[in-house]
Parts: sequence; C-alpha cells; structure tokens
Amino acid sequence: MAMLNWPQEEAPQPAVDEHVRVTALSKRYPGQQVDALHQVTLQIERGTIFGIIGRSGAGKSSLIRCLNRLEEPTAGSVVIDGVDIGSLTESELVNWRRSSGMIFQHFNLLSAKTVRENIELPMRVAGVPKAQRRQKADELLALVGLTEKATAWPAQLSGGQKQRVGIARALVHDPRLLLCDEATSALDPETTRSVLALLREINRQKGITIVLITHEMAVIHDLCHQVAVLDKGEVVEQGPVWQVYGDPQHETTRQLLNPGRETVALPGRLTAQPLSGQSRPLISLGYSGGGALPQLAKLSALLGDELTLVESTLEWIQGRQIGRLVLLGKTDSSPFRVEKIPAQLADRVEVLGYVTAN
Ligand SMILES: Nc1ncnc2c1ncn2[C@@H]1O[C@H](COP(=O)(O)OP(=O)(O)OP(=O)(O)O)[C@@H](O)[C@H]1O
Ligand SMILES: [Mg+2]
Repeated sequence: MAMLNWPQEEAPQPAVDEHVRVTALSKRYPGQQVDALHQVTLQIERGTIFGIIGRSGAGKSSLIRCLNRLEEPTAGSVVIDGVDIGSLTESELVNWRRSSGMIFQHFNLLSAKTVRENIELPMRVAGVPKAQRRQKADELLALVGLTEKATAWPAQLSGGQKQRVGIARALVHDPRLLLCDEATSALDPETTRSVLALLREINRQKGITIVLITHEMAVIHDLCHQVAVLDKGEVVEQGPVWQVYGDPQHETTRQLLNPGRETVALPGRLTAQPLSGQSRPLISLGYSGGGALPQLAKLSALLGDELTLVESTLEWIQGRQIGRLVLLGKTDSSPFRVEKIPAQLADRVEVLGYVTAN
C-alpha cells in the first residue's frame, strides 16, 4: 500500500552511493544475428530496490545473469562494489558470487533434502562448519517465517513457502546484493504480496540492494524505488518509479503500464469541436508527481456544477499522486480553454473532445 504522505519539497540530493555500474554492456548469444543486450548502461544505488521490466524476450534474464557472470557479456563492463567482475578468474568468481544471492521463478530446491538441508547446502559447499551452518539456517528460517517447516520436504510446501526457502538459501552468505528473476511469477496474487513484503523487509532490515525482474507492474509499483525499461535489449527509460509511472516517455513503457487503456467509455458521441450549445468538454487532468492536487471543490468551481467524473486512475506512488482524472465539464457552445485549470490543480490538462448526448 502506498503511504499517503504529502508531496515534499525536493530535499538536496546526497551523493549517490553506487553499488552496481553497468557500462555499455552487450550480449550476443552464439549463432545469433542480433544482440540480446545492446549497449546497456545502468547505475544502481546501494540499498535500493531496482526493478527491470520489459516484454518477453527483451533481455531481462540475460541482463541479470550478466550481473553475476552466469552469462559472459560480449562487450562492456559490470562493476560491483568497485570490482570489475569481468576481470575475476574462475576461482575469484566463485568467492565473489557469495556476496550476491539469486532467486528464480522455479525455486530450484532439491526434493530429496529437507528445507533446512536445502538452506545449508551452499554453506556445505563453501566448507562452513556444521554448527555454524545450523545456526545460520535456523536464523534464516525464522527470518522467512518457516521455523516450523525446518524438517519438511519441498514437496510438502506451498509455492510461496518454497520461494521463502529460496530466499533464505540466497541469504546464507549475507550477500550485499540480491538478484531476483521473476521470483513471484509462479505465485498467486496474495502469496506474491507476502513474498514481496518479505523482500521489502530484507531490504529494510539488512540494507541489501535488490535487483528484481518482473513482468508484473504491481510488483514494480509496490516494491521498487527505481525502474529500468528494457526493449529489444536496450534500456529505453529509467528513473524513480513515480516518475516513470507518472510521465512515461517511451511507447513501450506506456504499453507495459497501461495495456489497452487508451479509450474512455463515453455517455455520448465524441467530436473534435463543440456542437453549438449541446456539448460538454471531456477533459483529462494528468498527475505526474509534479505536486498538483485534484482539489474537487476548486475544479467544480471552474468546470461548473454539471461536473461529472468519467474515469479516475489516481494512486499514490512513493508519496506522489500519479494518474489521471477524466471529467465532463458543463454544456457550452465555445471550446474549453485548458488555461482555465491552474497548475496547482493538474500537472497536465488536455481536452479529449466534446461529448454530445445521443
Ligand atoms: N542461451 C541462449 N541462446 C540463444 N539465445 C538466447 C539464449 N538465452 C536467451 N536468448 C535470446 O536472447 C533474447 C533475450 O532473452 P532473455 O531470456 O534475456 O529475455 P527475457 O526478457 O528474460 O524474457 P522473458 O520475460 O520471456 O523471461 C531472446 O531473444 C532469447 O531468445
Ligand atoms: Mg526471463
């Protein structure tokens, strides 16, 4: 749920504490004619939740897998905590990977091991002594709310519980970075919410930077601070979530955020100009986080007492009001002038046309 805090004056921006820097990263798979990733440049601040969205095949998984070199980039660099991970040898890479955890859509648990054994496994591989493994596993079981399931088998768990085990397993080496590739795509909406709440808690409690791929816009909206939009292997847009939602610049972003929501159902015929004395202006008021607020009494005073609300998609994202109101103003024979609506009442004003009763 977004919090209803009022839009704030912009505070002076502190210097960015950079955690991940991706520069001109390209990836072309063997035998392919086009790049799966093309010249991707990104900067991810420490402690943020960074979302990556894009259509199927846009290159999201390729990008996240290049961040821990599960995939080798064809060109460009990935610098994490100041380390150019492309320069690491195989054995350095094995050690380095412990500072980043990864979770997947399909939880990849071993069915012949109990929940606790699954969590202990990466520690066994790393040679962590038994008592320490046990203590860490129990601590993480408590964190993800599965203490009671320590000795259960994966087959006895729900999807949400399996993903919690996946999250616990990704945290065994106290990573500073957590990579999530469609971590909630196999879950129902309610379970998704509870797994997202857990990720948010981990981000807050431990200050872990989370990079998260999803095709579910609600995940970005509810969880992420920053978002990047990938299209055909390129980053076409990035910024704070409120900004990208409030004023999407790229067509792909608009389609991802608002699939098929271009037309408004109308109580009449829409024309480009008013038909004399019978038409009402259909006005769209846009809110893109600029600080304007839809004060209804003031709008009503400006638009007349016939004012009718046709559509509202307003919501609060990161403390900013985002979305639009579509209103029908009063019957008038002259065109509506957008200057009538002052900037404090809407960030954007547009006349969509004039509606005449059938
Ligand atoms: N191992 C591979 N070999 C060849 N081509 C690949 C390989 N993996 C991915 N690709 C291609 O690279 C492009 C990007 O794929 P990627 O899996 O990164 O997309 P995605 O955005 O994660 O898609 P989805 O939302 O479906 O998971 C696609 O065209 C895909 O076919
Ligand atoms: Mg993918």
